[in-house]
Amino acid sequence: MVEFKLGDEMQKVSYNDIQNIDDDYRVIEFLKSHLSNYTEREMIYIMNNYKLHHHAIFVPDILRQIYDEVGLLADDKNLYLGFMKILEDNFNLDSNIVEIGGGIIPSLAKHIHLKQKNGTITVYDPRLYKNDSSDKKFILKKEKFTENTDIFRTDILVGFMPCQATEILIKTACRNKKDFLVALCEGGHQEFEDFYDDTLWEEQMIDLAKREIAENGMGVLEKTNLESYGDPYPIIYNKRIN
Ligand SMILES: C[S@@+](CC[C@H](N)C(=O)[O-])C[C@H]1O[C@@H](n2cnc3c(N)ncnc32)[C@H](O)[C@@H]1O
Repeated sequence: MVEFKLGDEMQKVSYNDIQNIDDDYRVIEFLKSHLSNYTEREMIYIMNNYKLHHHAIFVPDILRQIYDEVGLLADDKNLYLGFMKILEDNFNLDSNIVEIGGGIIPSLAKHIHLKQKNGTITVYDPRLYKNDSSDKKFILKKEKFTENTDIFRTDILVGFMPCQATEILIKTACRNKKDFLVALCEGGHQEFEDFYDDTLWEEQMIDLAKREIAENGMGVLEKTNLESYGDPYPIIYNKRIN
């Protein structure tokens, strides 16, 4: 407890309250300087929810990018770090990596860039907060990744819950004989709002990956997860067989 005088009255505030005020301040300061990156609806969502999720286990993407950016995600709750560990355990981080669907703030790519000694990370997302090719090792492409995107120099395609881009990620990687690692989510729901079934979508993506891996000689499909971080969805990748 901290005691201080406000007017004529003594006030008592717990250390937890002080921490929460500081956390809120960091989120608000961030939002003030990034207003143009969010739609009005997203802003309302963020303002209504940012306090609720501080200590939640599974934080929605738009908030978790902000928490990560302002340093509010503990390492053992940080899905981007969990995903990085899977990437490092199964592939060479010092490669030319392309991330599809990096989000508004490219949180995963930022962590990859910080840890890479060699290689590059290029992020594609039309929602990226900026387009920036000035750093040749960390390139932000504010555009959609399509089947025509040049991945000649790419070694690995990754995606952390890239929603409807999951399918194109798997197909493009396998058909170009590139490794891939992708975290599934509830799916590409925007396109089929009325009759959408996320379990069915998940099964379809896994079947697609198995088929593409087999047809293109990319080894076998491996599945893992980040359940200990509160993420209920599978993470899939190809494993080459020597
Ligand atoms: C659920 S968000 C995940 C964002 C980020 N990976 C994260 O977890 O913080 C999915 C993102 O995929 C992007 N996306 C969807 N289709 C895409 C495509 N064809 N190319 C690039 N990005 C795409 C969307 O704009 C959105 O930002």
